[in-house]
Amino acid sequence: MNAVPLVDLSLQHAEIAEEVDEGFAQVLSDGDYIGGKAVAAFEQEYAEFVGARHCVGVGNGTDALELALRAVGVGHGDEVIVPANTFIATAEAVVRAGARPVFVDVDDESLLLDPEAVEAAVTARTRAVIPVDLYGQVAPFEQLSANVGERDIAVIEDAAQSQGASRLERAAGRFGRIAATSFYPGKNLGGYGDAGAVITDDDRLAEVVRLLGAHGSPAKYQHVTFGFNSRLDTLQAVVLRAKLRRLRAWNAQRRVAARRYDELLRPLPDVRLPVTLPGNEHVWHLYVVRVPNRDEVLRRLHAEGVGAGIHYPVPVHLTPAMAEYGPPEGRCPAAERAAGEILSLPIFPGITKEQQHRVADVLASVLT
Ligand SMILES: Cc1ncc(COP(=O)(O)O)c(C=O)c1O
Repeated sequence: MNAVPLVDLSLQHAEIAEEVDEGFAQVLSDGDYIGGKAVAAFEQEYAEFVGARHCVGVGNGTDALELALRAVGVGHGDEVIVPANTFIATAEAVVRAGARPVFVDVDDESLLLDPEAVEAAVTARTRAVIPVDLYGQVAPFEQLSANVGERDIAVIEDAAQSQGASRLERAAGRFGRIAATSFYPGKNLGGYGDAGAVITDDDRLAEVVRLLGAHGSPAKYQHVTFGFNSRLDTLQAVVLRAKLRRLRAWNAQRRVAARRYDELLRPLPDVRLPVTLPGNEHVWHLYVVRVPNRDEVLRRLHAEGVGAGIHYPVPVHLTPAMAEYGPPEGRCPAAERAAGEILSLPIFPGITKEQQHRVADVLASVLT
């Protein structure tokens, strides 16, 4: 059986192995483990890549979101609007910052946050909204109403899945006052462990994030505010620098693969293809179709060696962890319906035509 994994990270490693070996050897001989030279270099290179003034490396994407929330002043008693279809971390960060996540529905076509639902969820306590660039395309930020801006509601971009994407010629990570991203290994730009970053043009916000992520400490043993420990590892920065140089090429390979799936799957009447919003340059972190009897389809794909997945099987407001905050079932109907139908097919730089044909053939046979 020709197995096709959901993601194959070994191909990326093969391309950068030499650079990583040399970079690691340098860090080890310098003993430069925390806050080493590679961290500052990566922060500068990633800020340039996005076209932002600041990139602050942190421990992971969840911390990046929490730090962004705290930096814009979100805290106890505040409400933060988040989409119901996202990874749980978007809402977790809100709770960790002391605020209450308010879940809103997504657009049935793109599965991105529905701007009208945001409008309807705004209250006097709303302090921020976190649109998520789900699956690799930027959320429709420009459609958030003036109401959001006028009421001084901070827009925070969750750009964990959109490294290298753009909307209306603007790079992911540059929407809103501040953005958070994750370099979890499977991301388009992934490290070899946990890592993340905060991106902003605002000098003050960047400084606050840096302070909060370093024990509230501008200099050793001076603690001017209560913070915690969330730093980008030097060794991760070595990996991320090597991968960043190849990110555009790798994203282009993902786009070719997505177009190929579109062509292969369009003839299948039971498959709903993913929708790209006009104006978006998608980077296909995930290629997500919708099918009937999804759980059975997934089981049979796995039995045939096709590593499909579900992102995400339970809308966040219905997870037990969010029972205290989530609205009851039925309030986010598009997200709830999608959770039972979505299916992520294998996609990664280096996926071959043969692998994609196999995925399409197995899916076709399972659906007939
Ligand atoms: C949309 C989204 N937000 C936040 C995160 C959290 O990132 P991390 O796993 O690095 O904490 C992730 C990824 O895991 C994600 O996909």
